[in-house]
Amino acid sequence: MSDGPILRVRDLKKYFEISSLLGRTRAFVKAVDGVSFEIGDKEVFSLIGESGSGKTTTGRLILRLIEPTSGSINFMGKEIVGMAEEEMRRMRKDMQIIFQDPYASLNPRMRIGDAVAEPLIVSGLANEEEAKERAIEMLDRVGLIPGKEMAQRLPHNLSGGQRQRVAIARAMITRPKFIVADEAVSMLDMSIKASIVSLLESFRREVGLSMLFITHDISIAKLISDRVAIMYLGKIVEMGPMRRIIESPAHPYTKALLEAVPSVMRRKREKTIELKGEMPDPRNPPSGCRFSNRCPFANERCHREEPALVEIERGHFVSCHFPLPPASH
Ligand SMILES: Nc1ncnc2c1ncn2[C@@H]1O[C@H](COP(=O)(O)OP(=O)(O)O)[C@@H](O)[C@H]1O
Ligand SMILES: [Mg+2]
Repeated sequence: MSDGPILRVRDLKKYFEISSLLGRTRAFVKAVDGVSFEIGDKEVFSLIGESGSGKTTTGRLILRLIEPTSGSINFMGKEIVGMAEEEMRRMRKDMQIIFQDPYASLNPRMRIGDAVAEPLIVSGLANEEEAKERAIEMLDRVGLIPGKEMAQRLPHNLSGGQRQRVAIARAMITRPKFIVADEAVSMLDMSIKASIVSLLESFRREVGLSMLFITHDISIAKLISDRVAIMYLGKIVEMGPMRRIIESPAHPYTKALLEAVPSVMRRKREKTIELKGEMPDPRNPPSGCRFSNRCPFANERCHREEPALVEIERGHFVSCHFPLPPASH
């Protein structure tokens, strides 16, 4: 493969039609509303945002679990929007997902060895016997040791952290080039989160995995991300290298998110941004900048005119009429 990005998403949109109150007009939730980003080879790119900002929908669109309203998704040099199911099936072994809830994503009656072997058999990459052998190796690899014994267990005999290791084993068994991890550690105890993140990190290092890491938790994203995008009501409001975003957030929303988790900031600073109110109803977002009704700095222009996402320093993008001044490097 060339050195180009493994994934290139352009102006991706997903509008869900919902029943309106009176049933007379058509109403939409603009869950993802014109999102563009790229993920490089072996890169971990995080989508961060509050619940309802459109992260999961973005991940599901990229895996073509749902169809976009419009936009382009290029994976390993091929456009996958509109790709025929037959060809898509072949692509799927290269793109896998790890969900938030390991309890819901595993079949309670299937032994974990079979659960891990299943994707290999389904995609025709191995026969049953080979698949079982490789599943045992993979269980060892993800720390479920000894794999041979663990393979015989049912999910209810495992802890939450162990189940998430099974989910990772299932995702990695087809040797994908890319995975979407959607809140993959959010439900786990704090002490286990870091060990699961470092397991994912080890796959990146050893097999050159690229990852879309979805989380509402910036302190977890910090552990693994090269670059991040901050989402708010279906749009990316800021994007750039993880370190630079922490050091010098340009969007007031990003700064407010960071100030909510003081442990992430290197220098302890006083809270300077107080968010007003709640996330607006996504069916009826504010005009102009979508953040304007919660932003302490918003003026008349912000309520009227939607800001474009512009590059303010190399690789660092923000969508705000009045970005915060950059901190020195
Ligand atoms: N199938 C659906 N039908 C209608 N609305 C949906 C559907 N899926 C998601 N949404 C809405 O889209 C918005 C974004 O949701 P989601 O992508 O799950 O956000 P996040 O993962 O950031 O919490 C929310 O307002 C949510 O209610
Ligand atoms: Mg979600």
